[in-house]
This record gives sequence, structure tokens and C-alpha cells, in this order.
Amino acid sequence: MLDEYTHKVVLVGDGAVGSAFAFSLLQSTHEIDELVIVDRNQQKATGDAIDLADITPLTSPARVIAGNYADASNADVVVITAGVARKPGESRLDLVNKNAAILKSIVDPVVAAGFRGVFVISSNPVDILTTLTQRLSGFPKERIIGTGTSLDSMRLRILLSHRLHLSVNAVDAQILGEHGDTSFAAFNEITINGKPLAERAQLTSQDKAQIEDDVHQAGGKIIGNKGATFYGVAKCLAYITSAIIENRNVALPISAPLEGQYGIDGLYLGSPAVINSQGIGQVIEYPLTDDELAKMKHSASAMKQVLDSIEL
Ligand code: LAC
Repeated sequence: MLDEYTHKVVLVGDGAVGSAFAFSLLQSTHEIDELVIVDRNQQKATGDAIDLADITPLTSPARVIAGNYADASNADVVVITAGVARKPGESRLDLVNKNAAILKSIVDPVVAAGFRGVFVISSNPVDILTTLTQRLSGFPKERIIGTGTSLDSMRLRILLSHRLHLSVNAVDAQILGEHGDTSFAAFNEITINGKPLAERAQLTSQDKAQIEDDVHQAGGKIIGNKGATFYGVAKCLAYITSAIIENRNVALPISAPLEGQYGIDGLYLGSPAVINSQGIGQVIEYPLTDDELAKMKHSASAMKQVLDSIEL
């Protein structure tokens, strides 16, 4: 039996993203005592649990088992990756009705099991499904986190590091807005070794548009080549989950609950926020230019339109 001081994570959805997340999580923190894998395909969950338990002598000394929604009752974090994945040529928004129904079939029994921890969502369209998780669960907003633009921000950092011939570690850069085609870079906030980007390079508006376009295309390019994307988002999920478990208080762009920030309300959207054991410690509102603010509002209205169209 686990006592109340142990750390338990429940993964719902043992597909390519889920299993890559589990593999990464066990290597991202030593603070996990139990990892439970839940999937419709129980045999796959069982096989992965046994396979992943084999790495624990060299990683986090966790118990890894296949389980069910009742396991969420005393979990710290429930990670949801379940859903239909994008096919080549599909946008993340094309998935919305199917994945909203799958989400409801997960959130309802997890809440009924007495879960009192933090939900972390990566299923697409992630901003919509994160907002829906809050509505379905009735949980306080800070206890729901979506991977949001965390992955897009990693992609932006890589693109800039190539362009400037620097290590990716020198670049701090954030993508805001939808995890999808209406996202944008907060160029004025980008730093290179702690100094403003403008001191290092002068990007024209064409350069900036090209960089944003490359970020937009990045996921589709992976899907076009190998049919799915999973390592990037799985690592973001593992980073967020270990930040919760270890109460790290780190800032990361995620799908965060906006309550007046950027003039937006009632929606989860990509913005930097602090992550700790409570979930979201604080949403950090960036000082955006008028043009960027207009892009943020455009992202929000695109999301709201889709949310209003969902039938559950
Ligand atoms: C991607 C998927 C996770 O952008 O949406 O890779």
C-alpha cells in the first residue's frame, strides 16, 4: 500500500505519445513511486508496464503497473494522451469532436474515482481539450495543464539556434497562443545568453514570418515522414509532470487558464506560466506588442469558435 507521502502518476493512453512519456518520465525524476498505465488495450498496457519496470533499477525506482481509472483516487497527476492522432494533411482542429468524446469518457470516471491531483493533457487540439477538461471536471483552473506551446517553443529555440549558429541552450524563446496554426513568437522577449535577441541579430519581418511558419509546419513535417509525432511532446509532458511532482516552480509556456490576461477570459491558451505541486502557480502575462496582442486575440477567437461547436 502506498502511504500519503508517495508520488503516484496515472497515464491514460498508452499509444506512441503515452509510452514515450512513460519512458521519459522515469528518467526525468527520481521522485516517482508508482506509475500506473491505463489503456483500452490492457494487454499493451501490461506489456509496457513490465518492459518499463525493467529500466527502474537504472532510473526512478518506481513500481510500474497496468491499472484502471480507480487508480487515480490517490494519484498526484493524471496525464491524458488518449485520442485519435492527426493523419497527414489533417489539422489539430479536425480531431475535435472525436477527441472531446474520448476525453469525457476518461475525465468522468477519473473524477468519480475521487482524484484530487493535477490533470496534464496533451491530446489534440490541446487548448480546446484542456479547457474542456476543466469544464468536465469542475476542478479549480490551476489544477489543469495542457502541453500547449511548450513543444512549439522548443522548436523555435532550435530554429533560432541553427540560424545564429549557437547552442540551443543559449536561446530562450517562447511561442504563445494556440498549439497550432495561429500561434506566434513573442520576439521581443527572446534572449540569447540572457541578452535581448535584437543585440545579436536584426530579424526582418519576413525572417520572423518565415520562422513562425517553420514552427507551424514542424509537427506536420514529422507526421508526413513517419506518420506520427511523439518524442517531442512526450518530453514536454515528462518535464511538466516532474515539475509538479518536485514542486519545481519553473516557468514554461503551456496551455494556461487565461482570466483577463491579454484581455482573454474563460479559455486555456499558450502562455508562460509557473508550474509547481499545485499545478499552475501563476500565469505570466508577457508585455506583447499591439500586433502580437492581435494575434493572441485571433488565436482565442479561433479556439472559442471551435469550443462552441463541440457537441458532447
Ligand atoms: C506536434 C503534435 C504533438 O506538434 O501536435 O508534434
